[in-house]
Amino acid sequence: MRRYHFGVSSPLAVLAVEASTCTRCPLAAGRTQVVFGMGDPDADLMFVGEGPGAEEDRQGLPFVGRSGQLLDRLLLEEVGITRDSCYIANVVKCRPPENRDPRPEEIQACRPYLEEQVDLIRPKVVVTLGNFAAKLLLDTTVGITKLRGHSYPFRHGVLIPTLHPAYVLRGGGPPAAQMRADLVRAKLALVGA
Ligand code: URA
Repeated sequence: MRRYHFGVSSPLAVLAVEASTCTRCPLAAGRTQVVFGMGDPDADLMFVGEGPGAEEDRQGLPFVGRSGQLLDRLLLEEVGITRDSCYIANVVKCRPPENRDPRPEEIQACRPYLEEQVDLIRPKVVVTLGNFAAKLLLDTTVGITKLRGHSYPFRHGVLIPTLHPAYVLRGGGPPAAQMRADLVRAKLALVGA
């Protein structure tokens, strides 16, 4: 059910407008546009990646490059849904130059946007993609290869860490099988199994 009606800006839309002119960290200087997030604001399943790449920066949408194509394919094959019925966001909303890792101060500056996205969307299941999102949301220094394979209690449901699709693209079969298994775990969590 829609929680908001036409003519009334949802808090998520208001937050997106606020973020669109953000200058809280130096990444603002190098971006084409802020990549706030996309999808169903009432989604039960939310993905959190690392930060926009070149294509995302160009289009203003998360995961629209090669990593996104893999995510879409595995989402359909393992969960049986398309991205329209999920919400997809990133730890940092602006592209780090040369696709470098986001810096701790950039992650902290951007953190309130992600926190508020999670609070407004209230997903049952959050799937983190790669190291940065898992470490931030689970508040841990433990790496993704140790974290994945389990579900963790989180806010309004559970958090399921999985590998970043870019890593899966580089690594081939074994990481792909692990990511598929994590998505099956997410599917089971969605139906409350
Ligand atoms: N990688 C990410 O972490 N996020 C995107 O939006 C695209 C690639």
